[in-house]
Amino acid sequence: MVKHLLSMQDLSSSEIKAILDEAAGLKEKLQKRESHELLKGKTLGMIFEKPSLRTRVTFETGMTQLGGHAIYLAPADIQLGERESVPDVARNLSRWVDVVMARLFKHDIIVELARYSSVPVINGLTNLHHPCQTLSDLLTIREHKGKLNGLKIAWIGDGNNVCNSLLLGCTLVGTNISVACPRGYEPPADIVNQARANAKKSGAKVELTTDPKKAVDGADVIYTDVWVSMGQEKEARERMKAFKDYQVNAQLLKGAKPDSIVMHCLPAHRGQEITDDVIDGPHSVVWNQAENRMHAQKALLVSLLT
Ligand code: CP
Ligand code: NVA
Repeated sequence: MVKHLLSMQDLSSSEIKAILDEAAGLKEKLQKRESHELLKGKTLGMIFEKPSLRTRVTFETGMTQLGGHAIYLAPADIQLGERESVPDVARNLSRWVDVVMARLFKHDIIVELARYSSVPVINGLTNLHHPCQTLSDLLTIREHKGKLNGLKIAWIGDGNNVCNSLLLGCTLVGTNISVACPRGYEPPADIVNQARANAKKSGAKVELTTDPKKAVDGADVIYTDVWVSMGQEKEARERMKAFKDYQVNAQLLKGAKPDSIVMHCLPAHRGQEITDDVIDGPHSVVWNQAENRMHAQKALLVSLLT
């Protein structure tokens, strides 16, 4: 059966560990300028319904470094489901490319794309999940803290796609996670239930609260994301109000461990979910995190294609 990555739940904890190990190895090879053309002659098709800086550049650069090639398909190029049905796009792409990455609005559509694709499909963000981000985040945390098991992550803000993938990823690998969201903006119940089921097996703890201070108490990692995700622009005004007490700032950081790290998937809206002094300050690891998108995704591509 073809293996896809649509959600973190598609991976076991040992598969996650193997990808992180491979990513660390590929990162070292790149730093030493050692050739690692493991995907020579392979092509990645990239479907984008939403904008992107990191996802596009890291997948495209990563494929080039691996000796392969990536094709960028902009929203207007294929008009997924409008110019051509989702199954037909999947059937066509499967005849030409070796792997597909898609950034879409509806998660159901990427599930449909994968169902009709005979090559692996990677989720480059949907409204529900962002697993490539979580792989990069786990790599970053492991680099800075030397382990994943037993650490505490505090998520501050919206229970969104990045939060969902982090909840699943952390609980698979044994990292405790405390999520602080305003009422009405919690992660979906089925994701929380899945995370709790993962946690039961891995020994991780899952906490949901409306209090950011409670979430950061003793945390090793503080993580935040935009208050208005792509596609939610019409809700901007009410969201600004709902999240105003959920800013990651110097005051909030005081409750975390003194050596805590601050993460953000980026793009950041400085002055909203995070202050300049924090994102530019000594605890911030956001640029390493962005760099690691490339290393983690290269490892994922290698694991799916070799
Ligand atoms: N974090 C992330 O996915 O960034 P882009 O939206 O720029 O790809
Ligand atoms: N939650 C954000 C993440 C961007 C990488 C969004 O979906 O817009």
